Amino acid sequence: MSNFQNSHNISSSTHKISDDFFRKVSESKNSVPPAQGKINFSNVTFIKSATNIKSCPCGSRPEIAVAGRSNVGKSSFINTLFNRNRLAKVSQKPGKTSAINYFDVSGMFYIVDLPGYGFARVSKAQKALWSRMMNGYLNNRNQLKYIIFLLDVRHTPSDDDFVMYEWIKQRNIRFLPVASKCDKIKASEVDSKLNAIRQSFNLKYDSEILLFSSLKKLGVDQVKSKIEGIILND
Ligand code: GTP
Ligand code: MG
Repeated sequence: MSNFQNSHNISSSTHKISDDFFRKVSESKNSVPPAQGKINFSNVTFIKSATNIKSCPCGSRPEIAVAGRSNVGKSSFINTLFNRNRLAKVSQKPGKTSAINYFDVSGMFYIVDLPGYGFARVSKAQKALWSRMMNGYLNNRNQLKYIIFLLDVRHTPSDDDFVMYEWIKQRNIRFLPVASKCDKIKASEVDSKLNAIRQSFNLKYDSEILLFSSLKKLGVDQVKSKIEGIILND
């Protein structure tokens, strides 16, 4: 655990529009009720990095996994959610998270930082290893209750995103699509970008996609509210 270092390196040079303006857009798009403070999100601890399902924590504690392409902002999302700079490792280079990382939240559930998929610049052997690890985890981990599915708001979903989405549907697991890095688009682009994601996945025109920005700390309360709903109502 001691070498679990981090570089929280979100560049503020990507800031295109005023904070206040984007906050208003974000709040109007994310119609989730505010979190009620029933889970102490400050009480979070790194537990372990697992490389296969056998080394994942024992017991029946529910877990929520953060999934998405390499570099989409999963580890940053976790740091932002828990308001901690150095909890999960972040890097500008894709492929930073290479194991299944467990964080305990208030002794109530685990948040799991997954390795990203779709990263081209790794060896075949490494790809095969990650693929085995992810398949093993996603297909066999019964404690997995919810997927937070990150999609970069700027891009149409990739083939790998479709594979992930198909898997979510087949497994019939609840999930929350989150459009990450929303500070990188203009407020006027929000609707068209969210609609492009909806259309790609054949989702209803008004289906929920939360806007999130680790740079601007947007969408945090809505995600907490969703997690409260999952953990407290199950
Ligand atoms: P892997 O571990 O490779 O799967 O990547 P990841 O999905 O965990 O991404 P990570 O959190 O490491 O972030 C990748 C890069 O995107 C880093 O340079 C982050 O600083 C940057 N980043 C993450 N979230 C945001 C965001 O909301 N806005 C901006 N502008 N940059 C972000
Ligand atoms: Mg990561």
